[in-house]
Amino acid sequence: MSNSVRFLLNGLTEVAAAAPPDLTVLQWLRTHRRLTGTKEGCAEGDCGACTIVLADACDGGLHWRAANACILMMGQIHGKLMVTVEGLADGALLHPVQTAMVERHASQCGFCTPGFVMSLFAAFRQGAAPETEAIHDTLAGNLCRCTGYRPIVDAARDALSSGGIDRFTPMESAIAAALHAIDSAGPLDCVTPQGRFTAPRTKADLVRELETNPDARLICGGTDLALDVTKRHQRLPHLISLASVRELRRIEVSNSGIIAGATATYADLSPHLATLDPSFAILLRRLGSQQIRSMGAIGGNLANASPIGDMPPALLALGAFVRLESAAGVRELELDDFFVGYRRTVLQKGEFIESVRIPKPARSAMFRVDKISRRFDQDISALCGAIAFSMQDGLIRAPRIAFGGMAATPMRARHAEAALLETQSFERAADALAQDFQPLSDFRASAGYRLHTAQSLFERWRLIAAEAR
Ligand SMILES: Cc1cc2nc3c(=O)[nH]c(=O)nc-3n(C[C@H](O)[C@H](O)[C@H](O)COP(=O)(O)OP(=O)(O)OC[C@H]3O[C@@H](n4cnc5c(N)ncnc54)[C@H](O)[C@@H]3O)c2cc1C
Ligand code: FES
Ligand code: FES
Repeated sequence: MSNSVRFLLNGLTEVAAAAPPDLTVLQWLRTHRRLTGTKEGCAEGDCGACTIVLADACDGGLHWRAANACILMMGQIHGKLMVTVEGLADGALLHPVQTAMVERHASQCGFCTPGFVMSLFAAFRQGAAPETEAIHDTLAGNLCRCTGYRPIVDAARDALSSGGIDRFTPMESAIAAALHAIDSAGPLDCVTPQGRFTAPRTKADLVRELETNPDARLICGGTDLALDVTKRHQRLPHLISLASVRELRRIEVSNSGIIAGATATYADLSPHLATLDPSFAILLRRLGSQQIRSMGAIGGNLANASPIGDMPPALLALGAFVRLESAAGVRELELDDFFVGYRRTVLQKGEFIESVRIPKPARSAMFRVDKISRRFDQDISALCGAIAFSMQDGLIRAPRIAFGGMAATPMRARHAEAALLETQSFERAADALAQDFQPLSDFRASAGYRLHTAQSLFERWRLIAAEAR
């Protein structure tokens, strides 16, 4: 058992003793450790100024990913390597990413620059190709108000073409060994006067922890939960992390479908969900940024029960099931029965989402999901719609249509489904949608825009279905 948060900071061992459970990595870096290269812009995961890079030991090497320090709790970096902008240069020798940024004049006021550099460093360590589309994806979670993105993209292209060698290259196996040494000290259980952060490693221990501490909050990636601290100024005195429970991270793919453990991140799930339809890959590309997708998980998206979460419409249309576990036992529910009101689910105290089972659509079936938001990159949906049905003798069978952003919960459009089945007409189904939803107006979209745009999706779906026939 480890009672302090232990990790490597820029390659060297670091112990953050008595770190409160809800202390963010950004606060620790800037206030406690006086490493102020990592900036605070928005404190909600949107601007990327706080980007740091994490590496986990896995498969004999290191798995690198960018993350937002502003919405990361200290306990979440236990057993990892954290690299900040201060750790990139090798003495006086700048990192290839930094050199490229200088040579391409990719910085003006410089406030956003450490964040861009760290996102590019993650791509560099991942061996990303210097392709424009991939570079745009890498940078989608970083905002710059003054330089303009063209020189930054040019710098990215240069850095990613520079051979992939840096000061971390010869250190990889030593870093992996040091991380294994931290790991072998046992799970984290950090108790401080301000509260407790505990990270069980098995499902049995998780169930036990939850049974004895039913009021503790679960944390996985923290990309929703951390905003309770940074934006709503709440205290989270007892956090139980799901991220170290190995069983919950599994992804099982079979002929009947995909079982995603609740803590499977978007980054891990994306290649598997993309096999269901290319529109799923586009949805995930547009869900947050790489920083968010490297931490955020499918279980958190469902448990958060946001009416504008992006996974529920697709999963409702696909007829997914959720497996819930607690000391009282196991139950599997249709996702249809999981959401019971605005940000409310059937989850009981002490219960957690164990996994999500996504049936594979039949070969003759159509599945499609469409996200509508103001911006392509890093934007929450104004609405999100999904449809699935099978074809038999040229007729649409068993349609399932679901929307987010149209009601207090993500929901099936039962009237539209019935109209489509009965009339085989997408136009009639679109008309029927007005009986399913009376959406609200808010800063993302007006009620009229939401209904009209959702109805317009039926014409898109009609054309896609006609082409597929
Ligand atoms: C900048 C930014 C952009 C975003 N963009 C999008 C977007 O485009 N689309 C979108 O849908 N979402 C978006 N999100 C929201 C968020 O990233 C997702 O909802 C993510 O899936 C949450 O997962 P997590 O692991 O981070 O959950 P956490 O924040 O760890 O947890 C969220 C909630 O779920 C509970 N919880 C977590 N896992 C479980 C479990 N297994 N069982 C029971 N309860 C659990 C926690 O207690 C907490 O209440 C964005 C967030 C940010 C900060
Ligand atoms: S400060 Fe803006 S993403 Fe963290
Ligand atoms: S250089 Fe000023 S915000 Fe990007």
